Amino acid sequence: MKLKHKIIALNMGALFFMLIILGTIITMITDNYNLRTTLQYLENQSNYSAIYIEQYALSKAPNDFEVPAVMNTSANYLAAVLKESVKCRVQIFYGTELLGDSEESTSSDEAIRPEIAETFQKNKAYLISTGKNRVFYYAVPVSISNRYTYSLGFIYDLKEADNMMSNTIKMFIFTGLFISIFMMLGSTIISNKITNPIKMLNEATKQFSEGNFESRAHAATHDEVGELSTTFNSMADSIKDMITKLSNEKEKQKYFFDNFTHEIRTPLTTILGYTELLWKTNDEEVRDKSLFYITSEGKRMLKMMERLLELSKLKNYSFELNKSDSNLKKLIEDACDSMQYKMKRYSTSCRLELEDIIWKVDPDLFKQVIINIIDNCIKYSKSPVIDISLKHQEVIKLEITDYGCGIDLKNLESVFDPYYKVDQSRNSKTEGWGLGLSIVKEIVDKHGGHIEIMSTPQKGTSIIITLV
Ligand SMILES: Nc1ncnc2c1ncn2[C@@H]1O[C@H](COP(=O)(O)OP(=O)(O)OP(=O)(O)O)[C@@H](O)[C@H]1O
Ligand SMILES: [Mg+2]
Repeated sequence: MKLKHKIIALNMGALFFMLIILGTIITMITDNYNLRTTLQYLENQSNYSAIYIEQYALSKAPNDFEVPAVMNTSANYLAAVLKESVKCRVQIFYGTELLGDSEESTSSDEAIRPEIAETFQKNKAYLISTGKNRVFYYAVPVSISNRYTYSLGFIYDLKEADNMMSNTIKMFIFTGLFISIFMMLGSTIISNKITNPIKMLNEATKQFSEGNFESRAHAATHDEVGELSTTFNSMADSIKDMITKLSNEKEKQKYFFDNFTHEIRTPLTTILGYTELLWKTNDEEVRDKSLFYITSEGKRMLKMMERLLELSKLKNYSFELNKSDSNLKKLIEDACDSMQYKMKRYSTSCRLELEDIIWKVDPDLFKQVIINIIDNCIKYSKSPVIDISLKHQEVIKLEITDYGCGIDLKNLESVFDPYYKVDQSRNSKTEGWGLGLSIVKEIVDKHGGHIEIMSTPQKGTSIIITLV
């Protein structure tokens, strides 16, 4: 059973239950009231009637002994008179004998009814018959001169009370039907309002599970379903982000692997080529040249392996920095010193503007960051000067700027990826594996810092590192 139908069924069930309970209570209360009023009425009428019979008998009988004779002859008359005022059938009994009846009796040997029998003990009694047409039987003893006791019985037709009861029941049935129609319409509208957002959420979930990661729930409600939709949407966003990241990571891995095989292929081909030549030649000069290339290519490969190893070590989650309070100014100066020889070779120099700052860093790795960046500035930019500034404002800001060839925007976003080399430099004779900046980024990230590269082709490149 669908939720919508359950809500409608629940509402209708509650309505019917309420109507039945309410109908029964109201019908019972009105009927009880009617019966009590009838009883009260008959009680009053019986009192007057008893007095009337007694007065009549005494006035007609010259003495007490004549009372039975008077009653025998006048009982029918008395019953008829009383019927006029009480407005119901009246019977007068003497013992079990019916003396007078306001209506024609259907059978003469009817058994004495229980309420009449009760008057023999000088008690008042009443009885209400059950069934469709109910009758209220009421009887009182009538004592004349304390000598003769007659029974006066009223047979009151409860047609009005019955009519009222059946009218109340009918009214409840009709009102119930009428309300049911409205309730049905109302329930359908309400259940639609409740279930529509759930349906939409369900549809969005289904589509998402079928691979449509753009699918989102658009519930405009501010209830639990609305909250659930918001949670679903943010969950879908996270999953989509994760999937995008995963596919990017996969692509990066493929790129890494392709480049690795490409980079390793060139030196290996060179080594194999020269090794083959060694087998074939006896020429001293060719042998020396071959051995030189084999050794230098071998060294290059070793260097690449070392850098790769370094990168993979840094990428390892369990890698721990060896942090200590270090003088950053001193570390930068040392790094520049170690690059002096290369700078001279490329006719460039460093211009330093450094504040004296002590900061907790891994000194060896920090120095490596500076060396890698300066190395790039020397190799690629051909800038006559490299500016290095270190400032401590709100954060620590290290900026290394060259005024060389720069990098275009297209390549700029990828320079931190392993093996990424800007085409222009790939074509040039400059050596390099494209691993330096990815190692730099990894080290800065491990320090909880931030690295940013800004470059304008033919104007220069700036690398800004902030440490907090
Ligand atoms: N200051 C710079 N000016 C111009 N191009 C640069 C500069 N720094 C980096 N690049 C470009 O970014 C690429 C990536 O640099 P990265 O340091 O990662 O690799 P690499 O220097 O080529 O190799 P490795 O550092 O592993 O020896 C370089 O190939 C180069 O083309
Ligand atoms: Mg480099």
